[in-house]
Amino acid sequence: MRRIRIIGIGAGNPEHLTLQAVRALNEVDVFFVPDKGEEKAALRELREEICRRYIEKPAYRMVPLRVPQRAPAGSDYRGSVDDWHAALAESYERLFAEELGEGEVGGLLVWGDPALYDSTLRIIEAVRARGFALDYDVIPGISSVQALAAAHRLVLNRIGEPVLITTGRKLAESGMPDDQGSVVVMLDGEQAFAKIPPEELDIYWGAYLGAEEEILASGPLSEVAGEIVERRAEARAAHGWIMDTYLLRRKG
Ligand SMILES: C[S@@+](CC[C@H](N)C(=O)[O-])C[C@H]1O[C@@H](n2cnc3c(N)ncnc32)[C@H](O)[C@@H]1O
Repeated sequence: MRRIRIIGIGAGNPEHLTLQAVRALNEVDVFFVPDKGEEKAALRELREEICRRYIEKPAYRMVPLRVPQRAPAGSDYRGSVDDWHAALAESYERLFAEELGEGEVGGLLVWGDPALYDSTLRIIEAVRARGFALDYDVIPGISSVQALAAAHRLVLNRIGEPVLITTGRKLAESGMPDDQGSVVVMLDGEQAFAKIPPEELDIYWGAYLGAEEEILASGPLSEVAGEIVERRAEARAAHGWIMDTYLLRRKG
């Protein structure tokens, strides 16, 4: 049976790979590399650096996978994501059939951890649901959330309290939930933190976490939101891309 290893590679620091991930990398015959067109050179470089640094057997292959464009979400966000996953499942199935021999091991390198805001597991399940015989396992990676907490020397939860992990889109829609004291926000392209009432909130923000370009900022949201918006825009212009994550914490 064909086998796929889904390997979390951390969110920007090649030293964040686990020993389990390094061992799995060395068992892969074919890496399937999603080509997102606009994918930032820095992300591609990290993946290449990881392969150069950790893979000892020289005979692995790299097969690009063209990622179809996602239709604009409009009012039906879930529908557009489901259609996109279905198109991706079809592309993956075709490529696995063409490029992965029976008994060979395929590898997918997933940014951060595969369990957090990543489609890979859903797509592989969709490929199996189409009837394609495939076994797979998941190697966890250090997510940007863990990198954020470490960079700020933070415990994400207050003692005995929960942490909510959500998206910029949800924060912009609903604001800071009344019943939450600690909220981690990812995928925030619209700087939702600068549009919510800042009173009683602290922010711990990080961009390019784990990478050489890493930028951190923290403080009362009312005092630092503007500065973060500015630094974010400058960094984005300088590098051509940005990924940032932050924790919002209710004071007291
Ligand atoms: C598609 S999600 C992937 C998350 C990934 N699976 C993880 O475990 O971190 C992309 C989002 O993760 C966050 N992110 C990923 N890498 C990051 C980094 N190096 N620094 C800051 N945020 C990052 C950003 O919020 C970004 O919008």
